[in-house]
Amino acid sequence: MRISSFEEYELAYKKSVDDPEGFWGEVAQNFEWRKPWTRVLDWNFDKPDIKWYVGGKLNITENALDRHVRERPNQPAIIWEPNEKDDDPVTLTYKVLHERVCRFANVLKNHGVVKGDRICIYMPMIPELAIAVLACARIGAIHSVVFGGFSAKSIADRVNDANCKMIITTDGAFRGNKRIAMKETVDDALIGCPTVEKVLVATRTRTPVSMIKGRDYWWEEETKKVSAECPATEMDSEDPLFILYTSGSTGKPKGVVHTTGGYMVYSAYSFQNVFQNNPGDVYFCTADIGWITGHSYIIYGPLVSGATSMMFEGVPTYPDAGRFWDIVERHKVNIFYTAPTAIRSLMGFGPEFWKDKDLSSLRVLGSVGEPINEEAWTWYNENIGKGNCTICDTWWQTETGGIMISPLANITPTKPTYAMLPLPGVQPMLVDEKGEEITGNAISGNLCIKFPWPSIIRTTWGDHERCKQVYFSAYPGNYFTGDGCIRDKDGYYRITGRVDDVINVSGHRIGTAEVEDALNSHTGVVESAVVGYPHEIKGQGIFAYIIMESQPHEPELTKKDILATVTRIIGPIAKPDQILFVSGLPKTRSGKIMRRILRKIAEGDVSSLGDTSTLLDPAVVEEIKAAAGIS
Ligand code: WT7
Repeated sequence: MRISSFEEYELAYKKSVDDPEGFWGEVAQNFEWRKPWTRVLDWNFDKPDIKWYVGGKLNITENALDRHVRERPNQPAIIWEPNEKDDDPVTLTYKVLHERVCRFANVLKNHGVVKGDRICIYMPMIPELAIAVLACARIGAIHSVVFGGFSAKSIADRVNDANCKMIITTDGAFRGNKRIAMKETVDDALIGCPTVEKVLVATRTRTPVSMIKGRDYWWEEETKKVSAECPATEMDSEDPLFILYTSGSTGKPKGVVHTTGGYMVYSAYSFQNVFQNNPGDVYFCTADIGWITGHSYIIYGPLVSGATSMMFEGVPTYPDAGRFWDIVERHKVNIFYTAPTAIRSLMGFGPEFWKDKDLSSLRVLGSVGEPINEEAWTWYNENIGKGNCTICDTWWQTETGGIMISPLANITPTKPTYAMLPLPGVQPMLVDEKGEEITGNAISGNLCIKFPWPSIIRTTWGDHERCKQVYFSAYPGNYFTGDGCIRDKDGYYRITGRVDDVINVSGHRIGTAEVEDALNSHTGVVESAVVGYPHEIKGQGIFAYIIMESQPHEPELTKKDILATVTRIIGPIAKPDQILFVSGLPKTRSGKIMRRILRKIAEGDVSSLGDTSTLLDPAVVEEIKAAAGIS
């Protein structure tokens, strides 16, 4: 299943298109199934109804753990690097990880968790997070990991959407020089979470926390009460493995559902082929497990593949901006996977943070989350890769479950800012505004995928219609990504960014509607409109136009209050970078905000505002320009 030359890639790609079922049937033979499938694929993109490995039975943790306990028990599965540079790293071999997962799975069982239950996990980047995720999978509970930076309200919304029965958390978190409350935030969330019966709390910071009898339990105490043996629960290939919430252009975040068999096959297949991990390699993905990158490429893809996956608790700038490179040097990392926003931020700190570090172990560099600009690509290539590493610019999404378009390391040619070519099994299609397919060279287009791949989204939790509307209705018969894309004369793909009302801030998706809802709940706010604008480090920043009931007396203080409201409602990642108080918003006669104009003003480029004649009140534009100090 591992491709080792460009010719093999071309052959695999051709086969995956000519005979997808034959192709994916063969790939799936590389895994352990309790019972084989009867059909590789059943699909209908209109409903949508997509099933892979129909009738197949398995447990993903038998593939991620038990198999390797037999074949490589003492190989490190996870190497954990703590927040403090001087604290010792922790290595969990496959044998130890298996034992700890089984033990914790028994704790879950003891507390009444059964197959199909939804479990919310709200934890910092410590080994217990990976253990909790795998323990859920061990017994067929559906995990819903909520990123540790989200607010109590965001936790509650997600817990309630999926009717979670339990929350797994920690007392607190270390992030750089900050101490962050976790249990306390969960306690705030619990005020509005009637379905949660139990809370399991792992100790990290020893922060005093309230523990309610009969509801709250310590991880450490509970694991002492159970055995380290836990047979895996047999799952159907299409049983849900996890829910992960992500933002879209409208409404609340939706719970993307991934299922067991197809997700396992594709996360491992893509991991092995993109990164070309060899036995003995150390692989380091800097993402947080709260996002899909951490699910697929810290936990499932690498562990199902029997790799050694690093997990880092801290932040790239603590104790200084050389921390990533210290980790690479200390653990002799061979494959390093991060986001453009981290690269851009570290570039700015000066060569003393990287030039004397021994980075010679590196062979492959990955990038994910947002378009990588040429300057960052070149810096990464020259200063970190020393010109010897393939840069894999990997394009994919929460909904795709795995990497879709990317070079295969040291196999596919690379070109700065290009994600290059689709993985086998991925059939991209570019369409114009009218929905017509663009063939050959394309200077702009909307990116769709024509055919299912094994880890495609199956549904949005509790609202299948929404899944259909958002992904399968814009271009009927195709999956629509929401991204713009160009294709050069050689057929190489370059993703240009979102074409919908989603802002990509430091590689995180933020829905404009969500931020607007948060802003509108601030006292005195009448209406607001939010757009993205180019930001040097974050890729995109958030620009908020706000109409107040009356002009604030102390605008700077009011802005700070507004930011506090957004932090309280969503979390610090959704805080606008710029706030402009305005007296009106440019609207069409039908009342739709013309964001195109607001984006231009946010960019500071008013030379081409385009057609404003359909505006209800064109004078508003002049007022906003004046407020922004642009003429
Ligand atoms: C959106 C998905 C997939 C893991 C992290 C983000 C953007 C992602 C790239 C890339 C250009 C990229 C897209 C996509 N994106 N990778 N290599 N080049 N853009 O997952 O939160 O689901 O966001 O991130 O706009 O639609 P996500």
